[in-house]
Amino acid sequence: MQPGHQRILILDFGSQYTQLIARRVRELGVYTEIRPFDATPGEADDNLSALILSGGPDSVYDESAPQPSRAWFEGSYPILGICYGMQWMMHAFGGKVVSADHREYGPATVRLNGTDSRLLKGLGPEEQVWASHGDRIDAAAPGFVTVASSEAAPFAAVEDVERNWYGVQFHPEVVHTANGTQLLRNFVFDIAGCRGDWTIASFVEEAVTELQQQVGDERVICGLSGGVDSSVMALLLHRALGDRLTCIFVNNGVLRKGEAEQVLGDFRERYHLEVRYADAAATFLSRLAGVEDPERKRKIIGETFIEVFEEEAEAVGDARFLAQGTIYPDRIESASVKGPSATIKTHHNVGGLPERMHLELVEPLRDLFKDEVRRVGRELGLDEAFVSRHPFPGPGLAVRIIGDVTAERVALLQEADKIFIDELRAAGLYDRTAQAFVVLLPVKTVGVMGDFRTYENVVALRAVETTDFMTANWAQLPHDFLARVASRIINEISGINRVVYDITCKPPGTIEWE
Ligand code: XMP
Repeated sequence: MQPGHQRILILDFGSQYTQLIARRVRELGVYTEIRPFDATPGEADDNLSALILSGGPDSVYDESAPQPSRAWFEGSYPILGICYGMQWMMHAFGGKVVSADHREYGPATVRLNGTDSRLLKGLGPEEQVWASHGDRIDAAAPGFVTVASSEAAPFAAVEDVERNWYGVQFHPEVVHTANGTQLLRNFVFDIAGCRGDWTIASFVEEAVTELQQQVGDERVICGLSGGVDSSVMALLLHRALGDRLTCIFVNNGVLRKGEAEQVLGDFRERYHLEVRYADAAATFLSRLAGVEDPERKRKIIGETFIEVFEEEAEAVGDARFLAQGTIYPDRIESASVKGPSATIKTHHNVGGLPERMHLELVEPLRDLFKDEVRRVGRELGLDEAFVSRHPFPGPGLAVRIIGDVTAERVALLQEADKIFIDELRAAGLYDRTAQAFVVLLPVKTVGVMGDFRTYENVVALRAVETTDFMTANWAQLPHDFLARVASRIINEISGINRVVYDITCKPPGTIEWE
């Protein structure tokens, strides 16, 4: 929670868009939190600026339909119900909701009915919206006036100015609702009276003060991987604590080419951080020898990481705090789907260490979404190469070398991966893909090079487009680009004589191969 700021709360009924509502409202400069649908209001919620009820997959008639506490409806703040949230309000306060013959899902047109609407102020007579609901409202609850209708939803938007309660049957938070932001602005600024007092700059300033108060004169240690979260966290801690921060960078032998040098170089020389370098590549690789099962690889890497990190942390000696790059989606007790950060973090979750070493946890990014972490990074002067980096899994190249992981195979994959990523950047395609990498297959194929017959390894290129990493499309990279990458890999790397491109979506595939 960000003390001192106006705050909007969202009750989460399980919509895939709940986090998006929070991000949109925060983009308007208002601090927003998500709570599970069954949360009850606490004392601190007396001064809420507004409450939003999210959408959700249920019908209000389902036996297990989520029910919010009625206590939320006794406050003096305005309330906005979206899809399920609106249907529940109509159902609970005397309206009539019925199962519709067909679901309205996807683009829809709503017509404003000319009433002087507070919620729809500034919108045109017809608006494109994104709908997604099964049930239909047949009668609004007493007190509500209908301000917009669509063919499938006669009560597409309703408002009760007296109680300051509003409802929409469509999703203002998704980009397909053309003027969704205007609707949210109306709600947040005109109806809820928010000022927009929460910005990234104010976040940084307050986080620095809070860290200084929490840590006092003590020392903090943190794991630095070069990923976005840990990099931003390290810079933030450094801004607050200066040389009372010690970072630990572990080389697990399955990093990308030049990664250790890049992270150490930048963070030590450019940002002046104290970074301890634990080169444990040999230990990791010896433990991985002969291991083919992906889950065993993950387990070995996770356990060895904790062991190495703990040794380094002990060597630092006087640390009292351990900083972790937990971000908001990791913490939301939500019925909705989670992003990839929860999995990605397991690698840095130095399990049990805080208790064993009597370290207190600090989590300076705990209230931020990923895109906000990136904006904090930019605010702190973090190089764009780190800010907009693709995610890289904790077990690194070990899960991209199918089968046995050896130093030779790691070196082979590092070379191929570097060519692919360099070419993506050179062609301006890196930022248009969410994640891209090369996979080394345990397959050899025949080829010819000059006058010689070859019998060498195959690699697969993988590039995907996604925002949440839960689903992904393979990236339709230009053919001449793919041809150039394949040709460079085969010509420049001895040991690879065939390149294939992975055209599998997720689902049914996963992004990684192991
Ligand atoms: P999948 O392969 O499950 O990947 O579609 C989704 C996202 O998670 C990353 N990933 C991992 N990250 N440890 C991590 O830190 C892991 O074991 C792991 N496995 C997958 C993957 O790179 C993608 O971004």
